[in-house]
Amino acid sequence: MRATPVFEAGNHRWWVLYDQDERRVIDSNVYIVESNGEAAVLDPGGFEIFPQVLAAVADVVPPTSVVKAFASHQDPDIASSLPLWNACNDKLQWYVPSLWEGFIRHYGALDAVMTGIPDEGGTMMVGGRKLEIIPAHYLHASANLHVYDPEAKVLFCGDVGAALLPAGHGIWVGSRRGSDSARAFEEHIQHAKYFHQRWMPSNSAKKDWINRVRQLQIDYLCPQHGAIYAGENVERFLNWFDGLTVGSAISR
Ligand SMILES: [Fe+2]
Ligand SMILES: [Fe+2]
Repeated sequence: MRATPVFEAGNHRWWVLYDQDERRVIDSNVYIVESNGEAAVLDPGGFEIFPQVLAAVADVVPPTSVVKAFASHQDPDIASSLPLWNACNDKLQWYVPSLWEGFIRHYGALDAVMTGIPDEGGTMMVGGRKLEIIPAHYLHASANLHVYDPEAKVLFCGDVGAALLPAGHGIWVGSRRGSDSARAFEEHIQHAKYFHQRWMPSNSAKKDWINRVRQLQIDYLCPQHGAIYAGENVERFLNWFDGLTVGSAISR
């Protein structure tokens, strides 16, 4: 895995750790947010990729600075590395959807320090900065949460925006700023279409989320698979998702 900065302003940084080349498992992006020397890892990934993730983390922050971890939902590609993280630091503070807490502990961390976030969301402090944990229920998990950083204007959006891209892909949809890349967006989104149609179950949940995030200022929309939407590609994605019918396994 490799690490690339998403946002940097003084002692406030976001990185994405991503895997372009290996195809043993579904690619997943792991995000690190660091503030004033304290770091949190968002959707830290599966058991299978833990060594690569930890090595990439060590490229950008001292692993001992990672004191918090966030899991958007219960999937194995999100949180099955939990016992390995806890073996490194048994004081690591986990933030997980309250509904999934008892299930996530099945990954093997009965003693993990865990804060269950209620359905309405909450906050997570990292190095004195307040991150907002916002609801994204049924997108795709029944309890599902995203993280918004109002200073960095980063929305970590879990499986929303996910694309299953060919090996060797870049980490940005089009150019980083996204202002010149309507065509690149159209090419990219073909890799996201089936994922959203099939994995996302609810059109009303989709509408609810779009209405919520349209209230936010977002420069970087950061999914857990695929590439990051920046600049105008954020609005392009919201418009595309708005027009997409999801829940495709149910025949109509
Ligand atoms: Fe998932
Ligand atoms: Fe995922």
